[in-house]
Amino acid sequence: MGQSTLNYYSQNSFKVAERYESADVTKLHDFLLSSLKPGGRLLELGCGSGRDAAFMVNQGFKVLATDGSASMVQQVKTHHPELAGHAVHLKLPDGLSNELGVFDGIYAVAVLMHLSMQEIERTIRAVNPLLTAKGRFIFSVPARRDEALTNAFDSKGRRFTALSRDRWKDLCLKHNLQIVRTMISEDGLGRDGIVWMNCLAEKRLFMKLMLPIITTPHYPQQAPHPWPVGRYPSVWPVP
Ligand SMILES: C[S@@+](CC[C@H](N)C(=O)[O-])C[C@H]1O[C@@H](n2cnc3c(N)ncnc32)[C@H](O)[C@@H]1O
Repeated sequence: MGQSTLNYYSQNSFKVAERYESADVTKLHDFLLSSLKPGGRLLELGCGSGRDAAFMVNQGFKVLATDGSASMVQQVKTHHPELAGHAVHLKLPDGLSNELGVFDGIYAVAVLMHLSMQEIERTIRAVNPLLTAKGRFIFSVPARRDEALTNAFDSKGRRFTALSRDRWKDLCLKHNLQIVRTMISEDGLGRDGIVWMNCLAEKRLFMKLMLPIITTPHYPQQAPHPWPVGRYPSVWPVP
């Protein structure tokens, strides 16, 4: 069953890429831009059609866009020829190795929920050493998804692992990544019953662990959001 998520994306890459290109991701892009130092080197995980990588390149970042489906990587080149040579096949978690180099930011939009619990943990563990000292990890995962699942798989055969905000926070902390900001956004494709949680995590340095009050930077307070993060409708099992 582990391969079935990627099989779905590979078999439907054309249709899926067209759909992702049409999404309204203005809030997501604002979140990315406000979380990353301009001009940095970025690694995107599960890039889909390349929509967000193309946006970030356009904003002056250097981006290595990756996806676990070779067919999706082909779609990147079709939709965004400027990314050819900067889009590669990389399957999580095994593809994350030190050979990739280090990055100022790593981001994964609507990807981590497709991994098993063990794969999520291995991915987060592998992200930390790929970040520079002040590197940041940004990811978007469902805060709510009403669709019924059978043994954690949807009707299309894609895995969905549902974790509360606290579970994401604890998993990140376990691997020295601290979530310092979250933002809730509506679904970019306008689907009912789907709400996203966008998270910004910072790499924790030894000094930060020892002196959290002195070294933890201040972030502007987020406006309260209507959706209670960490609680899911009954069809979405609360872990
Ligand atoms: C919901 S789509 C999101 C695509 C894109 N990030 C976006 O927001 O439009 C999930 C993407 O994750 C990729 N993916 C799923 N499992 C993966 C894995 N194990 N390793 C790498 N990519 C994976 C899929 O091929 C697909 O492109």
